[in-house]
Amino acid sequence: MSNQKVVVVTGSSSGIGRETSLLLARKGFQTFATMRNLSKSSVIDTVAEKEGLPLHVVKLDVNDDNSVTTAIQQILSKVGRIDVLINCCPPLSSIKHQVSSSFLARSHI
Ligand SMILES: NC(=O)c1ccc[n+]([C@@H]2O[C@H](COP(=O)([O-])OP(=O)(O)OC[C@H]3O[C@@H](n4cnc5c(N)ncnc54)[C@H](OP(=O)(O)O)[C@@H]3O)[C@@H](O)[C@H]2O)c1
Repeated sequence: MSNQKVVVVTGSSSGIGRETSLLLARKGFQTFATMRNLSKSSVIDTVAEKEGLPLHVVKLDVNDDNSVTTAIQQILSKVGRIDVLINCCPPLSSIKHQVSSSFLARSHI
């Protein structure tokens, strides 16, 4: 397994989430840029490919438990762990609760 830290960023289709994902990948983090709508991944995909970044786009809707579970399983099966979670979705209390509880419960972090 790589020694690179593994980071998961929610809300990576635009704004702070996208920029945070790109920044961390440029710094060498194994970055999973998650978003609920993969049709919005073209910008980050293009930049990551052009710069050769360690960035992977994964579908994750923080309001959908099944989506969270599937995304975490996908990431864990690929790299075996999650070191850091950064939530860049809007600060709705329900989203905050669901992200923190789901990730903590299922990622063993
Ligand atoms: N921009 C700033 O300077 C700034 C400064 C301080 C604080 N903030 C706060 O930081 C947050 C993000 O700001 P932003 O400017 O980056 O906004 P943004 O461009 O609107 O980005 C919000 C992101 O959250 C995603 N999202 C929303 N609901 C989601 C869900 N259920 N599952 C997964 N992703 C979801 C959106 O995805 P979709 O594309 O699918 O909608 C989008 O990628 C906001 O709460 C904002 O108030 C922003």
